[in-house]
Amino acid sequence: MNESPHIPVLLQEVIDNLSCQDGGVFIDGTFGAGGYSRAILKACPKNRVIGFDRDPSAMAAGLGMEADFNGRFSFIHDCFSNMASHIDEPVDGIVLDLGVSSMQIDQPDRGFSFRFDGPLDMRMGQAGRSAKDFVNSLSEKELADLIFTYGEEKASRRIAAAIVRARMLQPIVTTGQLADIIHQVMPRPKDGSDSAMRTFQALRIYVNDELGELERALDASVHLLKPGGRLVVVSFHSLEDRLVKNFLIKNTSAHVHQNRYAPAAETDKGLFSVLTKKPICAGTAELERNPRAHSAKLRAARRRV
Ligand SMILES: C[S@@+](CC[C@H](N)C(=O)[O-])C[C@H]1O[C@@H](n2cnc3c(N)ncnc32)[C@H](O)[C@@H]1O
Repeated sequence: MNESPHIPVLLQEVIDNLSCQDGGVFIDGTFGAGGYSRAILKACPKNRVIGFDRDPSAMAAGLGMEADFNGRFSFIHDCFSNMASHIDEPVDGIVLDLGVSSMQIDQPDRGFSFRFDGPLDMRMGQAGRSAKDFVNSLSEKELADLIFTYGEEKASRRIAAAIVRARMLQPIVTTGQLADIIHQVMPRPKDGSDSAMRTFQALRIYVNDELGELERALDASVHLLKPGGRLVVVSFHSLEDRLVKNFLIKNTSAHVHQNRYAPAAETDKGLFSVLTKKPICAGTAELERNPRAHSAKLRAARRRV
C-alpha cells in the first residue's frame, strides 16, 4: 500500500534507469514525500541516498526517513541547483522529479492552484517574492511576456491587460481572484482544461526560477556523477523537457566533437550517452492510477568517462 500523499510517477522506470548497484550513492534532488528515495534505498540494502528539497514542509518526511534508514539517508533542505556545494564524493546517480508535489498543489494556503481559493503565493521555498508581488507590480508588457514565455499562452496580452485593469480597482491577493479575472476574458477550452492553467504555470515557473534551477542542476551533474553514473529527469511540461533534451544533445559526442579548440581527449567523447532516444511516458495502468502521470516524460543518460 502506498501511504504517501504523493504517488511517485514512473517509479519503476526511474529505478531501472538509475541502474542501482548495491553500495551506490544517489542524489534525489526533489525529495517531496520521499517516494523515489525510499525505492532506491529498498532496491539494494547498502545504497545511500542524499535527498534535497527546497520546501521546508518536506523536512518532516525527510527527518522521518533519516530515522527509518539509519545512516543510509540524509535530507538537505536546499535547492537542487546547490547540490554540488553539499556533496564531496562522486555519485552513482542523480534523479530529478520536477515541478510541485501533490501536497503542495492540493493545499490551498500554498497558493499554487486555480482550483482552490488561497493566498496568491506559489513559493516552493516559502522565501523571496511571491506570485502576489509579481502580479501586482510587473508592467503589463512584463506580465504578457512572462505568461507567453513560461505558460506558452497565446492570449497572454489579453490576460495581462485584464490583470492590470483589475488591480487598478484593488490588489490581487488570492488565487480565486486571479482565476476569476482570467475566466472573464478567456473562453473555456474545448479539451475541458481550465483557461487559467497556463497563466498559473507561468507564474509558478517564474516565482521559483524553475528553468534556471534545472539548467544549473544539469550543469552540476556533469561534475557530480562518476563515470558510468546515471542522470534521470522526469519533467511535466515542454519547456522543461526541451531544456533536458537540448542539454543531452549538446553533451553527447556529436556536438562536443564540433569544438575544435577543446583538448583532444574531450573532443573524442561526449560527456553523456543518452539512454532514452525518445522520452519514456506512463503506460495505461499508471495513467488510470495516477492522472498526474499524464504529462510526465522521463529522459535518462549515462555519464561517460
Ligand atoms: C514532484 S515532487 C517530487 C516527489 C517525489 N519524487 C516523491 O516521490 O515523493 C517535487 C518536489 O521537488 C521540490 N523541488 C522542486 N524544485 C526544487 C528545487 N529547485 N530544489 C529542491 N527541491 C525542489 C518540490 O518542493 C517538491 O517537493
